[in-house]
Parts: sequence; C-alpha cells; structure tokens
Amino acid sequence: MRILLLLAILSLTACHSQKPNKSIDGTTESTHLNLNSGALDPHSMANFEDVKITHMELDLAADFKDKVLKGYVVLNYEVLNPNTTQIILDTRDLKIRRITTIDNTSRQLSWQLAAAKPPLGSGLVIKLPEDKRPIRIEYQTKPQASGLQWLNPAQTAGGKQPFLFSQSQAIHARSWIPLQDTPAVRFTYTARIEVPRELRALMSAENNPERSIDGIYQFNMPQAIPSYLMAIAVGDLEYKNISEHVSIYAEQSFLEPAAYEFAKTEDMIKAAELLYGDYRWGVYDLLILPPSFPFGGMENPRLSFITPTAIAGDRSLDSLIAHELSHSWSGNLVTNARWCDLWLNEGFTSYIEARLVEAVHGQERMIMEAALNLQSLQKEMADLSLLEQRLSTCGKDLDSEEVFSGVAYDKGRFFLEWMEKQVGRAAFDEFLNQYFDHFAFQSITTIQFLDYLQENLVSDFPQKLPMSVINEWIYGPGLPDVLYVPVTDKFEVINGFISRWQNGSISLDEIDTSKWSTQEWLHFVRAIPEPISTHTMQDLDKTFEFTKSQNSEIAHDWLLLSIRYQYEPAYGRLIEYLKEIGRMKLIVPLYEEMMAVPELNHLASRIYKKARPGYHPLAQAKVDPLVNYQPQTIGQK
Ligand code: BES
Ligand code: ZN
Repeated sequence: MRILLLLAILSLTACHSQKPNKSIDGTTESTHLNLNSGALDPHSMANFEDVKITHMELDLAADFKDKVLKGYVVLNYEVLNPNTTQIILDTRDLKIRRITTIDNTSRQLSWQLAAAKPPLGSGLVIKLPEDKRPIRIEYQTKPQASGLQWLNPAQTAGGKQPFLFSQSQAIHARSWIPLQDTPAVRFTYTARIEVPRELRALMSAENNPERSIDGIYQFNMPQAIPSYLMAIAVGDLEYKNISEHVSIYAEQSFLEPAAYEFAKTEDMIKAAELLYGDYRWGVYDLLILPPSFPFGGMENPRLSFITPTAIAGDRSLDSLIAHELSHSWSGNLVTNARWCDLWLNEGFTSYIEARLVEAVHGQERMIMEAALNLQSLQKEMADLSLLEQRLSTCGKDLDSEEVFSGVAYDKGRFFLEWMEKQVGRAAFDEFLNQYFDHFAFQSITTIQFLDYLQENLVSDFPQKLPMSVINEWIYGPGLPDVLYVPVTDKFEVINGFISRWQNGSISLDEIDTSKWSTQEWLHFVRAIPEPISTHTMQDLDKTFEFTKSQNSEIAHDWLLLSIRYQYEPAYGRLIEYLKEIGRMKLIVPLYEEMMAVPELNHLASRIYKKARPGYHPLAQAKVDPLVNYQPQTIGQK
C-alpha cells in the first residue's frame, strides 16, 4: 500500500486551453517558438544549457478572495553560451503582465508566451537584455494553478481561516513562478510575501518563528535548491520548538499531538549525521498540513510538509519523518538531474529512512516495514510494463508520464541494501558518506552515479559487486534473485494465529493482539485469506473494531476489504474518510476498488462529487478519470 500512485504528478488537472497572447512588442504568440528539444530534461522547455538561473527575488501577495498570488519575480542568471539571445522559462497557467530589465530605465523586454503544450505548460521566451542584467517579470497565478491548493476555512482544522499550500514536485513550480523548472538547475532565493494579517507565511527557507504584525514576511534561502523544492504555505499556524533542530508549525489543534508524535525527529537527525555527515540546512522544521495534502510528506528544505494522517497517537507512522528528513541528504543535497533518475532521490531516501528507523525504533520495526513494502512492491510490479520495472527509466521508450512508481522507492532501497550486505555496513556507510560530500549541491544522472560507484566501491569489491548484477538491478525488470527478503518472527506468529483461526482451532478473540504494533495489524489485515464472507467481516469488526480505527493506514486497509466484500456497516466510515482525507496514497486505491465492484460504482460517484472540491488539483486529476467524472467547466479565468 505504500506504493505511490504518482502518475498524476506529471499529468495535469485539466488541459486548460490558452488563448493566443499578444506580447508587448506586438508579435502574436506562436506554437512554433524555438523551444528546448528536451534532450537534457524532457519535462522542461527551458534552455538551461545556454543560460541558467542563479538567484531569484520573489515578491508576491496572497489574495484569498480571488485565489491568486500576485506580484513579481526578479531572475538573476548566468549566461553559459555567449551566443544566446533569449532565455526560455517554464510556465503553466500564469498571467504574465510585464517583463523589464532591472536598471534605471526599467526597459521593457520583448517576450512571447507559447501555446500550452500539456503536460509541460507554456514556454515563455524572453529576449535577454544586451547588458545581461537581471529580468523582472510581473505576473499572477490562476486559481487552478496545479501546484497550489487554496482551502476554504471549512477545510482546515480551525475552521476560521483559509489556508494555502504549494506542492511543486515534480513540475508544478512553474504554475506559481515562471522559472527553469528542472531539477538540473539550482538557485538561491529571497522572498517578500504579503498575506492577511491573521495568517502566517512560511517557505522552504529561513523562517522567522515570530508572527509579523503587518502580514509581511521576508525569507532568505542561502543554499541553492532546484525548483521543485520551492515551497510556500499560508495559514493560521502556531509554532512550537521541540528540540535543538526541530520546531513544529501547525494549526493549534494539531500542535501538541504532532509534538508528541514526532518527538523522535531529533534522534533521527543525530543518527543520520553519524552515518552521512552534517545536516547542512540549519533547522529541520515540520509543517503539519490540513488532511487534503495530497502526499504523505514533501521534503521542502528546512521545512518538511507533513500530512496529519501520520499522527496515529503512538509514533507508529513516524518513518514518514525519517523519510522526509533523509531527503536532506539524498534529493536535496544530491539531486536527480531528470525525473527518470528519480530512484536516486527516492530509492536512496527509502534506504536511509530504513536505517534511521532501525536506529531509533529498533531492527524489528525496520524489518516489519521492509516486509510490508516488499509485499506492496511485488503487487504493484505485477501491473507494470517491463520498462516501468527498471530503476532508471531514462530512454526514449518510456512515456514521460510513466516514470513514477513504487519501483524507484522500494526496488531502489533493496538495491542499496543488497550492496550494503555484500560489502558490509562499515564500507557501505563510508561510501555513501563520501558520495554525499562529493556530489553535494549537485544534480546527477544514473550514469554519473554508476561511474562513481565503480570507482569508489566496486573497484574495492569486484567479486562481491559484479557489474552484471548491478546492471540487472538498474536496467532489468522485476527483482533480482539476490534480493535479501526481509523476514520477521512477528509476522510468522501472526501467520500462525491466522492458520489456527482458519482451521477452527481458535476463535478471533483468542488471538493475542495486546502488544501488536501498527505494522503487525497491517500484516494481519493483509494476510486474512480471501475471499472473506460477510459473516467473517462482521466477526473481525466486532472483535477488533476496525471500522472505528483512528489509524489512517489500518483504516485504509480495512476499508479496502469492506469495499471488496461489500461490508455495508463500514460505508459510513468510508464516506467520512474520503471526505476528510486527500492523501492520494490513501484515497486512490479506495476509489479504484469501488470502481472494480459494479454495485459500488454509483457510491463512488456520489462520494466523489461531495469530496472532490476538497481535494488537491493533483488528486482530482488522478481520481476524475477513475470514476469517469467530467469536470463541468474547463477553461481559464
Ligand atoms: N518527494 C516525495 C513526494 C513526491 C514524489 C511528490 C514525487 C511528487 C513527486 C516524498 O518524499 C515522498 O516520497 N513521500 C511519501 C513518503 C513515504 C514514502 C514515507 C508519501 O508521500 O507517501
Ligand atoms: Zn521521498
């Protein structure tokens, strides 16, 4: 279940048609602008090989009435190819007002906005000023910006104030800032953000714990980051410092529960520093978002964005924090250069996550999570093409929208774990530590990683790490036979209970569940032999009260079964769950399951109609086609 259904990330909500624009020098936009061929990054139209952004100054005001960000950005850039006369930026659904140079004359520059090219958006071509001074772009976003979600007060915990948050990964920063939206380019930034006085603004930058009195917030991000780590949130947010590096920002009612739930974060930082070197980003804060946040977490630097569905009350789902924190090394420090290299971010991160969970919660929990993840991965792989089963999906054969799946995460993690076991922890830890230092603040490809691996590890252990096996991991389908299969006694005990219950020698209430962790419950629910009769569903629910479970993951797995076996007493909870939560990993499988049961198609449509307005544009884009929902109006404001 942990497998992410991320195909929606690159696809767009709706393909908003763009009317031709007049550029200020009078030329009409054209579809035939000379845009980047996409050789280096097929998901960006930017000519970043010729000219690249180095620093950005943002000045935006958040208008909650119209659901737009309005203002300007100043782009500083470095010209790499002296023959370049233009800079091409990525944009999507932006209204560009005016583009000028930054000098005493504020001279207007000529520009053209290309027609939208889904899923990439519209290339914005700007003629560079002769003196190569910075460029100032006045613009505003549109309410349907794919990278922003504007929440009404009713969609927040407090219910009184609205909320705004961004989700830029993978290619949505372009829907709120005109920029070179590729992980291959890094820049620093400053920002001035104006929000209603009652609200606080936060960014993936140095945040000030003090609330401003006039609603103006200033930010500085001194470390160079790629565009997908640009992040903003605005809401009625309280602040609580919980340890040396860690503070929590959350709506009042989530503040204490989150402080308890994520209390181990500092220990995780310490464990990570011991393994992979200094934490290089200053503080590590957590922002708890409203439940409509479409992901579990997002590793925005200095300030991870976290779903409240990870607050289980017993710290049992805090591997999510270990994961987002791990990105401070794999992803934010050493970054995949293209999205087809995603495993360099997510596979490494999933491996480090497991190491941190082991350090903080012990080996047993780490192995249980590994076993659950392996099971999900194998299930997911069964439905993937051979190409999609590769770690590196780079190459012409794959459709650009098919690069995201659980493969990058868990196959990547098992690959690194295999190497670790082959060469021993000491050597592998040392290798990774050096790797992060060597490529710090750079974006790299799979080939660059392989070259480095060969020179710095394989050369020392040629027998233990045959290149043929490494290539099989990276370019082969499925999972190599050499995979270390995680096995835990805890799950064997549960399997034993299930067998005895199945053959009638014990009843459900004789199963000793008193010390079970979330991971054991998840294993139990997944291991119940199917099909399950209504009578057994009732018995399970009566004994274990699954329908009432407040653990989002356990409830999810139970609701899946309830749909599959049409267990009606759980429908009320199902409706509530789908209206409350917008995290794609938790809601998409439930809609899919309802659509797989003909009798429940109607229920799916009914729930979706109610729940959809509360979902993020990405979640809407994912679920719309699943339930055959036709958005009423497609168009732009
Ligand atoms: N960076 C990802 C989320 C992401 C990936 C967003 C690709 C858009 C495109 C984040 O670190 C992540 O992996 N989140 C997981 C956490 C889980 C694996 C513990 C999630 O949201 O479920
Ligand atoms: Zn991740």
